[in-house]
Amino acid sequence: MEYWDIYDENKQLTGNKMVRNDWNMKPDQFHLTVLGVIERSDGKFLITKRVETKSWAPGHWEVSGGGVMAGETSYEAVVREIKEEVGLDVTKAKGGYAFSYKRVNLEEKNNYFVDIYKFYMDFKEEDVKIQENEAAGFKLATRNEIKEIAQKGEFLHYDSIKNVFMENPQIFLIGFMGTGKSTVSKALAKILPYEIIEMDQTIVDEAKMPIAQIFEKYGENYFRDLETNLVTRISKSLEDGKKKIVSCGGGVVVRETNRQIMKQCGKIVLLTASPKTILDRVKDSDERPILNGNMTEDYIEKLMEKRDELYKNTADFAIKTDGKSAESIAEEIFVNLFK
Ligand code: S3P
Repeated sequence: MEYWDIYDENKQLTGNKMVRNDWNMKPDQFHLTVLGVIERSDGKFLITKRVETKSWAPGHWEVSGGGVMAGETSYEAVVREIKEEVGLDVTKAKGGYAFSYKRVNLEEKNNYFVDIYKFYMDFKEEDVKIQENEAAGFKLATRNEIKEIAQKGEFLHYDSIKNVFMENPQIFLIGFMGTGKSTVSKALAKILPYEIIEMDQTIVDEAKMPIAQIFEKYGENYFRDLETNLVTRISKSLEDGKKKIVSCGGGVVVRETNRQIMKQCGKIVLLTASPKTILDRVKDSDERPILNGNMTEDYIEKLMEKRDELYKNTADFAIKTDGKSAESIAEEIFVNLFK
């Protein structure tokens, strides 16, 4: 017999179990289900068609998923379900947990949470091995094809999960010096199939001198011109649709043109940290000419205050980074992309 863990309404384990599909749940009891969506780099999603012999929603299209077994995590469950249903191993895929929803069905005595996972992985059609008693076939469908199937009422749970099929945006990471833009970019590129553009590094490579020397030799204004020129070129390069994470220089928001260009191109994510955290992170750097001779918490706080509005007004959403690992910040950003 297969058992499921019973969760409370806040998705906490209660320590109790239920028999799978035994719809006899009390109003404050929930079980957990997972759905896993796989997108290939050509923008196609793997979807399967339910066999006609199913009593519920026969012949409908869906993605892999099922109940989380007692003792299992939702990640373990989604990996297992995808393996069982379509024969693919997503343990090395990019992506991960995207979002959840909750359903209370008092009459049916069936309350549950659904965790949605989005994976990015390339695979060939011949790698797909569908479980024949469950699925009548599969298809590699574009997001528009899935939408059309849903409009005919033939795609299961589409309204609840449609954000998982959204096209991922270009991402700009902005924020004060030392908020972790470069480190977080690297962690984010492990989850998203994106390339990284490091603005500061690109400027250094092109100018063939460190930022401190550019400031010293030509002044801040010249550096800001290089920045604007680069932001403009980046925005053009994004037109080919290839997805990028742009790790911006801390002062890129200072110019109105830069803010406008970035806003037109994609999602702008603001990383924040307290002046104390910033000082800890940058105090040994000789690559921040803006802080030359002013490496104090007080100076950082004042400059931050001056730029605060610009950062906030430019960003689509902000993430606090104090005390968090780059990996957890990257996961937070990933989850925010589905909102
Ligand atoms: C600056 C931040 C730096 C760099 C330059 C100016 C700023 O980037 O572009 O020193 O004005 O805040 P980081 O935020 O990557 O340190």
